[in-house]
Amino acid sequence: MSRTLAVLLVLTLLVTAAQAANLPDPLVMLDGARVTTKEQWVEKRRPELKELFQYYMYGYLPPAPDNVRGAVEREDAKAFDGKATLREVAVSFGPPDTPKIHLLLVMPNGRKGPAPVFVGMNFHGNHALLKDPMIRLPTVWVPNTKDNRARDEDRGTEVDVWALEQSIDRGYAVATFYCGDVDPDRADVREGVQPHLRKPDAVPGPHDCATVAAWAWGLSRAVDYLRTDKDIDKNKIAVVGHSRLGKAAVVAGAFDERIALVIPLQAGCGGTSPSRGTVGESVKAINDHFPHWFDATFKDFNDQPDKLPFDQNCLAALVAPRPLLYCCAVEDKWANPEGQFEMLKSADSVYRLLGAGGLETKQMPEVGQLSDGTLGYYIRPGKHSMTKGDWKV
Ligand code: GCU
Repeated sequence: MSRTLAVLLVLTLLVTAAQAANLPDPLVMLDGARVTTKEQWVEKRRPELKELFQYYMYGYLPPAPDNVRGAVEREDAKAFDGKATLREVAVSFGPPDTPKIHLLLVMPNGRKGPAPVFVGMNFHGNHALLKDPMIRLPTVWVPNTKDNRARDEDRGTEVDVWALEQSIDRGYAVATFYCGDVDPDRADVREGVQPHLRKPDAVPGPHDCATVAAWAWGLSRAVDYLRTDKDIDKNKIAVVGHSRLGKAAVVAGAFDERIALVIPLQAGCGGTSPSRGTVGESVKAINDHFPHWFDATFKDFNDQPDKLPFDQNCLAALVAPRPLLYCCAVEDKWANPEGQFEMLKSADSVYRLLGAGGLETKQMPEVGQLSDGTLGYYIRPGKHSMTKGDWKV
């Protein structure tokens, strides 16, 4: 090994060790009591962690509504040259006038029974995922257009990001909706669900639901609907999401036990990487740039993330015993790939306690190699993005 390589290796080990240092132990209660049984985890520690994450970071998720309904607005039984059925479903819930989730659902026609499904939010609207002139355009605020309205010309611009046809060919259904259906990604949340779920015109309190929690809550409403669809296998609902929407995916997976598999991609700070991390985005940076993502209380930790009574290892642990896969990219240092691996390593003890296996390796797997185990890790070459190759993994 060359000298430079050896120095680099030592530096990486030091950074990794620093990140692992002083992490709150998912198996130690706030009062210092150690969790040693499955019952203690389920009855005491898991509810305690859910409470702490909502109070200090994400804000409280609104209660689940009991009036979720899906109205199929369009069906194309011959999508992808007859290989799939495409449905556009308006999912409604909550008090009258609450915005609806406009779900795009594609299902393989060759299925022998109910299909396993991936559910995830997209960044710009369902119309970006397919070059289909019939797909409904969002009518709410969207980012990156001149007047913040969705445009016909953006149809199909994210075909490769979602690679729907590949999933269809592998026998999976995919359900997706525009994140702005639930919460626009900006400080003015009026077009989203938040104002409808608290007292009208009330200013959000210090622990009120913020954008990431609202998105996670929206994913659960999509799950409510999918569980009523006879073409979907309700025991095989996987949640996916990239980046900020990956943060929402892992929160949804942590809070909603009906989700069978959780796959956040490059979710980074506020999702899959440590708040105490020394690489990439910090708590202060994320709160300064995206104040609406987290509750007001989280800002108190800008300069002292080490005072948080949890770290993101505990969020990963909340997914236990269900499978969880963190996907990273080598050049995406902002999302701290090494720190993400450390979070899984630390959540492993909870998976073991629940008899669910865990992370089968103590070292980060080689680039391009999916690790084995209920807790999975994958890092590929390249940048911050979601690709056809990621979907294959
Ligand atoms: C920014 C932000 C990240 C986020 C990313 C994204 O880079 O700092 O936290 O994950 O945007 O959502 O693309």
